[in-house]
Order: sequence, then C-alpha cells, then structure tokens
Amino acid sequence: MNAIRFLLGDEPRTITGLPVTTTVLDYLRGVERLTGTKEGCAEGDCGACTVVIAEPDGTGGLEHRSVNACIQFIGALHGRQLLSVEHLRQADGSLHPVQQAMVDHHGSQCGFCTPGFVMSLYAAWRTDAVANRQELKDWLSGNLCRCTGYGPILDAGEAALKTPAGDDGDTAAVLAKLQALDDGSMLDVAHGDQRWFAPHNADDLAKIYAAHPDAILVAGATDVGLWVTKQHRHLTTLIDVSRVVQLTAIKETAGAVTFGATASLRAATAALSALHPDLGEMMRRFASIPIRNTATVGGNIANGSPIGDLPPPLIALGATVTLRHGDERRTLPLEDFFIAYGQQDRAPGEFVESLTVERPGADDLFACTKISKRFDQDISAVLAAIWLRVKAGQITDARIAFGGMAATPSRARRAETALIGQPWTAASIETACSVLESDFTPIDDMRASAAYRMKAAQNCLRRFWYERGAPAGEPTRVLELADG
Ligand SMILES: Cc1cc2nc3c(=O)[nH]c(=O)nc-3n(C[C@H](O)[C@H](O)[C@H](O)COP(=O)(O)OP(=O)(O)OC[C@H]3O[C@@H](n4cnc5c(N)ncnc54)[C@H](O)[C@@H]3O)c2cc1C
Ligand code: FES
Ligand code: FES
Repeated sequence: MNAIRFLLGDEPRTITGLPVTTTVLDYLRGVERLTGTKEGCAEGDCGACTVVIAEPDGTGGLEHRSVNACIQFIGALHGRQLLSVEHLRQADGSLHPVQQAMVDHHGSQCGFCTPGFVMSLYAAWRTDAVANRQELKDWLSGNLCRCTGYGPILDAGEAALKTPAGDDGDTAAVLAKLQALDDGSMLDVAHGDQRWFAPHNADDLAKIYAAHPDAILVAGATDVGLWVTKQHRHLTTLIDVSRVVQLTAIKETAGAVTFGATASLRAATAALSALHPDLGEMMRRFASIPIRNTATVGGNIANGSPIGDLPPPLIALGATVTLRHGDERRTLPLEDFFIAYGQQDRAPGEFVESLTVERPGADDLFACTKISKRFDQDISAVLAAIWLRVKAGQITDARIAFGGMAATPSRARRAETALIGQPWTAASIETACSVLESDFTPIDDMRASAAYRMKAAQNCLRRFWYERGAPAGEPTRVLELADG
C-alpha cells in the first residue's frame, strides 16, 4: 500500500503529499485546522497534545490508547482511528461526560491543558482502566496544568469515571471502516527523498532492513520523534517496526519471560511486575501513560541510553537479547550489547527481536530503585538494580547494575566480587559500598553531580540490606542514610 489511510473521527482520510515525518499534531492543527489539540513542549512531557488512537484489539473490539500527538509521525495513524477533542462533541451538540465533569468541578482555568486532560480522561473512560484516585493520579501524570491545581481536575476525573463507560455506539461501524482501509500489505510511502516502510511480519521486516541497512527503525517514536521536533533532523528512510505482530508478543513460562521487542511498555508492565514487584513500581514511574502506550521494550534497549530504566534491572536479572539480521539470529547477554556511549553490538540491518529474562529463584534477593528529581514522569539520575543469591547466610552470587553511573548501563563488577563468598551482613554491604567507588566515575551533569550519584548508588546498596537482609527489629535507617 502506498498511502497512509486512517479514520479521522468517523471520516476516512488518505494522506499524500506530506513529509512522512510530519507529526500527528502538525497534521491536526496545520492540515485539518483542528486546533483544540495544543502544542506545549513538543517532546512528550506536558500532555497538551494528548489525542486518542483506536484500533482493533484482536477480540472483536477496539483498543483506545492516549498518545502524545507531538512526537507521533503520521505513519503511526495507518489503519487506525484518530480522535481529538473535537470528536467528543455529542450528536446533540452537548459536551461529553468527561468534558461536562471538568465544567462541573471547575477543572479548567486558562484552558490550555484542558483538551489534553479531557483526552486522557476519555481514554480512561473508554477502557475502564482507573479504579481509584491514586490510579487516576498515575493515569494523569503525563498531563501538566500550570494554573488550575490538580484537586479540581482529579475531582472531575473521579466524577467522570463514575458515569458508565460506553462505546459511543460506534464500535462495529468503526471496525468495518478500519477493515476497509488497510489491506494488510506492507505500507511503503515515498515523499521527496523520504521513504516510510511499515511491514506486518518479521520476515518482511528482516528483508526490508537488510535491503536498507541505513534506515532508521521507528518503534514507539518516543526517542525518534524528538530527533525531528527538537533536533530538527531530516530523516530519510524509516522502517516502522511497531506493526510486526510477532514482535509484540510477551511469552510467559514458569521459569522465564520473553518480551518481543515491540511490546509496548504498558503491555509489558504486568509481566515485569510478576518478575518482581519493584519492576512494577519502576514502570509506574516510567514516563507517563501516553508514553508507555507507544514506547517499546526494544526501543528502551536499542537506544543505548546510559539512563534508560529497563537495562539495569534486566542486566541484574541476567537477561539475554536476541538480534536478527536477515534469517540469522544471535543471542547475547544484555550487558554485552552496550559497548560504549552511543555504540551497541548491532550490525547494520540487524534489529532487536526479543529479550528473555529468567524469573528470580527462591534463594534470590532482588531490588530495583529509581532515583529522580520528580517522582512522576522524570528521567532517572540513578537507577540501581541489585540481585544476590544467598544460601545459608552466605552470598553465593551477585549481579549489580546501575544506570546513570557510566556511559552505558553497567555492572558493578568489583562490588560484586567483594560480596561473593561473604556473609550476608551489613559489614559485607559496607565493604561493597567502599569498593563501588573504584567501579565507577559517575556522569556529572545538570541532572545530578557525580558525587550525588555515587552517594545515591551506595545508599541503594545499604537500603537493599535494610529492606531485604536486616534482622527483624533492627532499626531501618534508610531515610537517614539517603539524606546523608
Ligand atoms: C516524555 C518522555 C519521558 C521519558 N521517560 C523515560 C523514563 O522514565 N525512563 C526511560 O528509560 N526512558 C524514558 N524516555 C525515553 C523513551 O521513552 C524510552 O527510551 C522508550 O523505551 C523508547 O522506546 P520507543 O519504542 O519509543 O523507541 P523509538 O523512539 O521508536 O526508538 C529508539 C531507538 O531504538 C531504535 N529501535 C527501536 N526499535 C528497535 C528494534 N527493534 N531493533 C533495533 N533498534 C530499534 C530506533 O532506531 C532508535 O534508535 C522518555 C521519553 C519521553 C519523550
Ligand atoms: S506538546 Fe507537550 S506532550 Fe506534546
Ligand atoms: S488550566 Fe491553565 S494550564 Fe491548566
């Protein structure tokens, strides 16, 4: 198929003659003149541009996802339905229940953020995803308001979500229209010197990437989108990997979990939480719901960021990554994938296919701690992940991995060596804390100083002891140490 086809509300659209890296936000405001959707940060942080994308959920219904229109490319719309705040108008011209609740509870002042909040609430209303006020707060952590204050907005949200979720009576009609738009063939769109491919299966992806090894892979575009909106880069050949059905699968067995590279972070959260509750808590604080709705497990690994949240815990749990080039596959320990800053063990034309993590065993202790300036929607200053195997009071094995401490996500090899064979005591942890200083020369930047990062990393080790090892009754000094 050679054109991007989708539904705007209920109306079919075919896009031709636009750069393939046009954002959904620019399309809505500039081409459709639907200006209810606002631009604040243009980097996925503020939520002013939140829209909802609906698509078949595979069980005869529709899945509604809130996304940041400012960093999604128009190719992401193909075969899907785009809903902006204008589409919430009811047939009789009245407000949608979530909009009415914002009015009733005084949830808006200047109104700039309001369409974004309304669309986030609309996604919750459609999906029944929010059970209580805390979950509502988490749900709205990607929407910022400068003037109203969050109390009235949360009151509005709670009231709106009490009204029965409905399908607006349109699911069957929308599904039929979507089916008519997409014949299931690979999308191949050209504009000037730009090309956008979107294969549907892994073999086609392997072939097209091998044929265009210089192409940029796009998964959730929560990094790549910013190359265009913030760095103003002109991208030529892009391959959208997010539609490859085989790569979205998450396979769970008694002993391990395998995440397809394009499983969204939101889809992966339940399996990560089941690996260990600390991973569930980390995912709650990973960006925001709209980001997690599109961002992928593979994207968080492949971008090679030293401050990506998934690599340290996955390395500490001994994960492996499988890469594919054409018909060839190879599997390596995840830690070996990260060679140096901006350099990963990935050949031209080779893509990340999956990640496999073994479940911790009965003798294994694990913790993962994210330290950032804000609790919600913030990049980590330090991400600590600690895995120890303790048998009969002795530490028999250790994997300790950090983000934010070096140019890549890295293991603290010397601290690990200092722990293995030692008794599981506070004294052993103190020794590891001292040795940690020879493991890393931490990054020093506006997010955190090198000294702060080292102190925080050491305190994560101490916290691990107090939370996982200290005998019952021993005073927990975690807060005191963290402040120290
Ligand atoms: C507002 C905001 C908040 C964020 N908060 C966090 C946070 O809290 N923690 C965190 O770790 N990150 C955060 N990020 C960064 C980003 O969301 C994550 O790194 C995300 O997982 C990237 O996934 P993606 O699918 O969007 O990647 P994309 O942007 O699509 O791609 C990222 C990179 O990976 C490559 N790539 C993608 N898929 C593959 C594949 N299968 N094989 C090979 N290469 C591939 C792309 O070519 C590109 O180089 C945030 C980003 C934003 C905009
Ligand atoms: S404009 Fe701020 S998230 Fe899109
Ligand atoms: S109402 Fe003004 S920013 Fe929220």
